[in-house]
Amino acid sequence: MAGRNDQSAQAHDAQGRATPDWALSLDGMRAQAWSCLSRGVRDRRAPSRHPTLATVSPDGWPQACTVVLRAADPAQAVLEVHTDTRSAKVAALRAAPRAALHFWDARRHLQIRLACTATLLTGDAAAAHWDRVPPAARATYGADTAPGTPIDDPMAQGHGGGQAWGFAVLCLQVHMMDLLHLGAPHRRAGYRRAQAWAGQWLAP
Ligand SMILES: Cc1cc2nc3c(=O)[nH]c(=O)nc-3n(C[C@H](O)[C@H](O)[C@H](O)COP(=O)(O)O)c2cc1C
Repeated sequence: MAGRNDQSAQAHDAQGRATPDWALSLDGMRAQAWSCLSRGVRDRRAPSRHPTLATVSPDGWPQACTVVLRAADPAQAVLEVHTDTRSAKVAALRAAPRAALHFWDARRHLQIRLACTATLLTGDAAAAHWDRVPPAARATYGADTAPGTPIDDPMAQGHGGGQAWGFAVLCLQVHMMDLLHLGAPHRRAGYRRAQAWAGQWLAP
């Protein structure tokens, strides 16, 4: 049937678990991925709370680090991460505003890989976000020793912090999603924003 992407075959993995209904269709896979991302924003213990953010340094090295997922907007396909304005990832994104995000949710057996373009908000443009950062969390931003500065003593981390000028919002516009559900069989699907998120099954 034209446009139909459901697959009705019910399968079981090595542990006897049935493939969940959401993994049977392209739309279901994508909806589940956004559900997973939204959960990461509101649940500190969700695996999707802490994705890996990958960028490319100004001299071409791949770099990856763990971050906290702060916001997820399924309608706009935009995610948000907060960081220090002086972090290496900010310098990387200023030189090449492209990033990847990687998530693995072991409970859902779902890997999510996202290709994004990044917009940096700092200063006045980040003020509304800064106002919503809890006071205790503000200390992370703008300490008098910048992230990555060599120090003689791990206790000598600098003071200060809580500085709005040190706060940057990374707005990550998702352009491509690559989803992999581990089951029997494994199911992989790719989606592009430029194609209105019409999905395509891919060989795993
Ligand atoms: C669980 C966890 C969560 C983290 N969350 C963030 C975050 O939201 N923003 C951030 O800038 N760094 C975060 N970090 C630290 C980064 O992984 C990284 O070490 C730091 O930002 C320095 O990165 P840089 O190389 O870009 O300077 C987190 C680290 C861990 C282990």
